[in-house]
Amino acid sequence: MTTGDKGKGGESGSRAPALQKARVLSGMRPTGKLHIGHYFGALQNWARLQNDPAYECFYFIADWHALTSDYADTSAVAQNTIEIVTDYLASGLDPKKCTIFQQSLIPEHAELHLLLSMLTPLGWLEREPTYHEALKNITDKDLHMYGFLGYPVLQCADIVMYGKDGVPLYVPVGQDQKSHVELSGDIVRKFNLHNLILDTDAFLSHPNSADAYLVIRGSFDPTMRGPRQHSRPTLEDIYALQTLIRRRVGEVGIENYLEHLNSFEKFKDMHSAFRAFLKEPLVKPEVLLTSTPRIPGLDGRKMSKSYGNTIMLSESDADIHAKTKKMVTDPARKLRTDRGNPDVCPVYDWHKLFSTKETLDWAAQGCRTAGIGCIECKEAMAINLIKWIKPIRERRAYYEWKGKLVREIIQDGSLEARKIAVHTMRRVRDAVFGKERIPRKTVGGPAKTKRRASRARARSD
Ligand code: TRP
Ligand code: SF4
Repeated sequence: MTTGDKGKGGESGSRAPALQKARVLSGMRPTGKLHIGHYFGALQNWARLQNDPAYECFYFIADWHALTSDYADTSAVAQNTIEIVTDYLASGLDPKKCTIFQQSLIPEHAELHLLLSMLTPLGWLEREPTYHEALKNITDKDLHMYGFLGYPVLQCADIVMYGKDGVPLYVPVGQDQKSHVELSGDIVRKFNLHNLILDTDAFLSHPNSADAYLVIRGSFDPTMRGPRQHSRPTLEDIYALQTLIRRRVGEVGIENYLEHLNSFEKFKDMHSAFRAFLKEPLVKPEVLLTSTPRIPGLDGRKMSKSYGNTIMLSESDADIHAKTKKMVTDPARKLRTDRGNPDVCPVYDWHKLFSTKETLDWAAQGCRTAGIGCIECKEAMAINLIKWIKPIRERRAYYEWKGKLVREIIQDGSLEARKIAVHTMRRVRDAVFGKERIPRKTVGGPAKTKRRASRARARSD
């Protein structure tokens, strides 16, 4: 990306580029309060990444995505957005260390989604495993909707909006979301091929641009000879060339095309410079798969709200005791005198997360020898779980008590995120429609005075 961004990591601008932080982006749909499965599956890792100086992190609430399944009843989406950000903060995400934002406050996501949707083949979307699973498993809603099929395209827009040229873009997600990120990579590759940017300023200011222009132009049309042969190419010439290059690159790929140009003697001096003039508008994202601990639900299945087998981050002591009492254990331990195997018991999986080494050993040993009963074992685990959850619950209560604070954090974070989104979209529009297009700001740009600014905000809402 060129200059102009003012992201938190400080896009370099005119200063010497400092540490180039990799970008990290992830998000969740606001479908309800979060549970400890979300914590161990994602939030713990997100917090670790925000504390690592190698990364600049963006965590958001995908409230538009919630509408893909909640289109018929949107009444809970706004409140759930607040709840989830409260859970983010309670889990240790710190708005000073990462940017927390809300998707629908950044209309650029919708615009990028639209542009990407133009070149995303239906087959790619219909083939997504998550699409089939949802159609099969969710029977109380009709999901045969245009928006639902396009879910991964919107997700792609969410991700690549925060890409920065020359810096990796990581998406920390679980195994279930991996194919969406890979699909995003495919969409980006296609978009970049068709919208490759030839940096006109850099090209025209290169001392060999006239020669290079003729070589490249000639590579498409060997018979081309014209009056402009010895003069410098004009901007229109370069745009026309960009169109030809895009077409060719779309067929053979960038590297093959460059190799072909390299066979022209006159072009040799210019070759490496020219590579740098060809810019891809979007950064291809990569999945950041981190091994997360296994935390099955109370019943041993995957922890999920729809199974009713969760412990929420806001769960009370009494409910933790009551729910864990009914947890599934090693099915072979029917009687108190039966020996058990902790390795197949969800309670023991939970012990591993919340208990000390001594308690773990006590549980494993007591289980294998029938020295302890499951009731004792669960009770010990529940006490440690409560000890662990207490500070999270307290932070949660603090943010609830603070009332407007969570809303302000979302607003501030979204303002930061939007600066980057606006920058990305300018580049994307340049690539798609050319720099000569009528610019957005001519139809309602940044207002000059404070009063006009607040009125403009009100209008655009
Ligand atoms: N699909 C994700 C989920 O179900 C939410 C999401 C939307 C997302 N856009 C994203 C996750 C971009 C990572 C990156 O939780
Ligand atoms: Fe599970 Fe503990 Fe019972 Fe063993 S003793 S089966 S680990 S609950």
